[in-house]
This record gives sequence, structure tokens and C-alpha cells, in this order.
Amino acid sequence: MDKNRVTPDINRIVSHIKDLPTLPRSVLKITALVNNPQASAKDLSGVITDDQVLTARLLRLVNSSFYGFPQRIATVTNAIVLLGFDAIRNLLLTTSIFGVFSKKSDINGKQLERYWDHALGCAVGAKIIGNCIKYDNEEELFVAGLLHDIGKIVEILFIPEEFEKVRQHAETEKTLIHEAEEIILGYNHTDIGELLAQKWNLPEKLSHVIAFHHSPSTSKQFLKETTIIHFADILCRSLDLGFGGDNRIPRLDFEALKKLEIKQKDIRMIMEKMEIEFQTMKGLFEY
Ligand SMILES: [Fe+2]
Ligand SMILES: [Fe+2]
Repeated sequence: MDKNRVTPDINRIVSHIKDLPTLPRSVLKITALVNNPQASAKDLSGVITDDQVLTARLLRLVNSSFYGFPQRIATVTNAIVLLGFDAIRNLLLTTSIFGVFSKKSDINGKQLERYWDHALGCAVGAKIIGNCIKYDNEEELFVAGLLHDIGKIVEILFIPEEFEKVRQHAETEKTLIHEAEEIILGYNHTDIGELLAQKWNLPEKLSHVIAFHHSPSTSKQFLKETTIIHFADILCRSLDLGFGGDNRIPRLDFEALKKLEIKQKDIRMIMEKMEIEFQTMKGLFEY
């Protein structure tokens, strides 16, 4: 493994966190359908409309300013035709992720909200950076941003006492949260996130971005996507959108960033847009 980090002990994670969360059945079915080249728009629409909550969430989001379609989209079939299979899968994943984790949120509700704010800020930032460099699939970047630190959310919910030790270590020793995780737990949130992405059968690109977002230069593939998330994460912390678990800004991977060819004046524009769009999106999601 060529990542800049301690080799994680996967057995340790699994024995620590026995029941990694599962996605709703309908979302798993949809993921399988999207991966199946034989599946038709009708098949996909059938699975979605079987789940009323999912249908309502999907229509709410496709009609939001995030997509900016001039006309109202009234049916699931319409949404599939307009957006395509992959986009629908990403969208349903986005809306379901909050649902999966909010069930237990009463334990650490307030704390969790700040971490979700960080994830949402990074998702919004990734989408805006993608738009700036004319990346062809902005909402794929949005999902990647939303999930990049999913391992931290799992730690907060499933091993809260250990996570508190990690957080305190980061605070007193003034280290980054992923360094504190490696010292206290022997693995970090990117390891948990990668495991979860595999368990959920998410596309390889997503699991890769989650695994490498702290050191994109060491990544052998999906360098562009991994760097976009890395940069969005750092901008999000500079803008104080939510909380990433420590009070430091992670090291910027200049080598990787150079390859995105973002101009200095564009960075200012990206940050301004991030602050505005973050507020809009926060109103749209409940967590
Ligand atoms: Fe992270
Ligand atoms: Fe982050």
C-alpha cells in the first residue's frame, strides 16, 4: 500500500466496529441496477417508486436550485431521462446517507451536526471547483465530498469514547485528527471510509477518493478527483464551515494541486461561492 500512513489493521477496525452501517435495501438494489448494463430506465424507475420516501427526496432534490432545471420535473422517469443512471444513483446515495446516520444522532446530535457541516461544505466546494475546471460530472464530486470523512461519522457513532480520546489528543498535542487516530486507534478515518465504501459496493472511484484525500499525490489513479476533494476539504476548513475534528488546516499537497491549473483569482471566487452555496444546501438537507 503506497499511502502516506500507518498500515491499518483491518481486523482491528472490524472487531472494534462490528456493525458497520448498511444502506437501505432500495438503495442497494438501485446501485446493483445502475451497475447492470441490461437494466432499463423502466426497471430503475420501478425500484425507486416502490420507495415513497426515496421518491419524494429524489423529486425534491432534482427540483432544487442545485440542478437548476428551468421546468418542474414531476415524475421519476422524467428525472432518470434528464439526469441519467449514474447521476440518479449518486443523488439517491446523497439523500440516503443522512438518513442512515441520523437514526443514532440523538447520542451526539450537536457534535455530529458540525461534522456533517464540514462534509457538506466540502461537497459544495468540490462541486464548485469541478465547475471551475470544467469537470464533466459535478455531482459525482458532490457525493465524494459528502463521503470523504464518513469514517469520522462512524467513529463518533460507533466508538464515541475512543473518538473523544482521539479528539482530545488532537487538541492537546495540536496534531491533525488523522494523526491522532493513528496513535490512539492504529488506523484512521480514511481506512474506515474505504471499508464502508467497499461494503456498500460504491464505485471504485469513490472509495479511492475517500482513501487518498489526505495525500492525493500518492494516489495512482483518479488523481484529479482525489485532488479536488483534498482542496475542497482544505478550503472548507479555512472558511470555518463545520468542524473537521481538529483546529489545524491539513497540509496542502501542492504537487497535486498544480495539476488542476486553478488560477489564483478563481480560488477567491470559489471560496465566495462556497460560503453562499453552503447556506443554500444546508437548508435543503436535514441532519
Ligand atoms: Fe479526512
Ligand atoms: Fe475533511
